[in-house]
Amino acid sequence: MAYEVRVNGQRKYRLGVLGSGKGSNFVAIADACASGGIPVEIGVVLSDVADAPILDRARERGLPTQHISPGQFRTKLDETAEQAYIAALQKAEVDLVVLAGFMRILKGEFLRAFAHKVVNIHPSLLPSFPGLEAWKQALDYGVKVTGCTVHFVDQGVDTGPILAQQTVPVLTGDTAASLHARIQEAERVLYPAAIGALARGEVVIQGRQTVWQKGASI
Ligand code: GAR
Repeated sequence: MAYEVRVNGQRKYRLGVLGSGKGSNFVAIADACASGGIPVEIGVVLSDVADAPILDRARERGLPTQHISPGQFRTKLDETAEQAYIAALQKAEVDLVVLAGFMRILKGEFLRAFAHKVVNIHPSLLPSFPGLEAWKQALDYGVKVTGCTVHFVDQGVDTGPILAQQTVPVLTGDTAASLHARIQEAERVLYPAAIGALARGEVVIQGRQTVWQKGASI
């Protein structure tokens, strides 16, 4: 698979991807880049987990990867780690930071370094079910419809301006695993499409609203 760095001498819109796990969203984004489906390239893939499969999926595609230890905390990066993540992303000259199953909260310095340039995918229709295992929260609550949300990252947990959402039905007999799989299927379509729209300048952020330009949609 070819990953172009330059098109007609112009630098493409470049992503820095952060993930902690399997990397199925990363694969969907990388495949959309490789096929030319979205006008972006991946500058670097970073993980807080040394043996995370997302790093293997990136190496298989010839992309630069780095494991950066998160430091002393369980749910966030310590100061040294935060600086190392910022430096790696700046060195790769990324235009957008894409969280793809990155299980650490990003705050303060990091968000100041990439103001309005960090997006995340969350496995529920926010603002319902923020936080961990959102598909399980939805199943336990008994909702009939859930889904996934692409949103900008702000100082809160899963609270930033919403860019795009996709509904997913909860079916009779669903288990946490079957519902999660159905949501992840939707994520793999929604996330690349939302990133493509950002790269093409089809959507702009105005306060809490994200405004799609005339005619643009996903
Ligand atoms: C995805 O389902 C994503 O929505 C979730 O982690 C999974 C990562 O899967 N993210 C969160 O829960 C963030 N709060 P992947 O590694 O296969 O892309």
